[in-house]
Amino acid sequence: MESSCDDTAAAVVEGIGCESKILSSVVVGQQDLHSAYGGVVPEIAARAHVEKLDICCKRALEQANSTLDCLDAIAVTAGPGLIGGLLAGVMFAKGLAAGTGIPLLAINHLAGHALTARMTHGLDFPYLSLLVSGGHCQFLIVASATEFIRLGSTIDDAPGEAFDKSARLLDLGQPGGPAIEAAARKGDPLRFEFPRPLINRNGCNMSFSGLKTSLARKVDRLGIGSGFAFEQDIADICAGFQRAVADILAAKSSCAIAEFRDRIGNYPSSFAVSGGVAANFEVRNSLESRCDAMGIEFIAPPLEFCTDNAAMVAWAGIEAMLSDSPGDAVVTARPRWPLDEKSPPISGFGKKGPKA
Ligand code: KG4
Ligand code: ZN
Repeated sequence: MESSCDDTAAAVVEGIGCESKILSSVVVGQQDLHSAYGGVVPEIAARAHVEKLDICCKRALEQANSTLDCLDAIAVTAGPGLIGGLLAGVMFAKGLAAGTGIPLLAINHLAGHALTARMTHGLDFPYLSLLVSGGHCQFLIVASATEFIRLGSTIDDAPGEAFDKSARLLDLGQPGGPAIEAAARKGDPLRFEFPRPLINRNGCNMSFSGLKTSLARKVDRLGIGSGFAFEQDIADICAGFQRAVADILAAKSSCAIAEFRDRIGNYPSSFAVSGGVAANFEVRNSLESRCDAMGIEFIAPPLEFCTDNAAMVAWAGIEAMLSDSPGDAVVTARPRWPLDEKSPPISGFGKKGPKA
């Protein structure tokens, strides 16, 4: 089960050794509930999860042609995420586990994303993973099902957040990523200059909030906010913005590949992306060309498993069960839950302490 942000999801996944069979994956989004507010409203999200979790689970079992007594375990996202949504999922899963006697597993949402490429493509450890979504952006060495080494992450906004906020400034609707990508198709990426922060610094940390500020200045200068919008101006701004995001991610991917080699002793054989921003054609393309040039296999799981879903949570549960450390006996909601507890927390200007 997944309820950490604004998607309520349930799935049934079968694991046969390292092979996976996704028997069902149900996702109910909440776009309509939040669209009037320009972002996810935590209280509304939590209430919607409470309403939808049982429906999603029922549907997932039906679509899998399965029943509760066929399940070996219940895996639920326990963090990181919005506390209300996490509590809704964890309490529902606890009730189900207590009522049925099925073991309960607390899953880290980021582990779900990072392990997705094993579910969809059967990747072997270790591999390099980049998670780029609306709430997260980080490079990880996925060393085993329970061992993740964070090489770097955003010090402020996540790329999806930058897409969403920028689309709002341009009045393009939400989610901002697909809207900006569509507008950028007719645009000239070279007309407007956008910064590429931290690109010449060592290390794999990234920054995206300056892009949004730079876009806001252009919007003001061109009078777009006050109703004077030329379609071509918007298209050119979107194309320039999107190119900057793709360039930052590609440049820092090269840093992450080099750091993987320094730490593990050889280049990664595979580089897997996940998260909603991985749907962006220009982002995917620039990452793929970097990998091609270095002989590294580039893996982008099917979109439905790149964005938030419960199949990845179920799969992370299977991996946890097969590993030496299946997790904490006491399952609690953890809004902040870094995947890699050993690396120093990232605290940029825009973040109130380490989220992940
Ligand atoms: O992984 P996801 O579904 O949810 C979480 O944030 O966890 O990612 C959603 C984010 C949104 O910010 C959305 O604008 C962005 O992914 N996104 C895109 C595209 N499709 C979705 N960003 C850029 N280009 C896209 N085509
Ligand atoms: Zn996510």
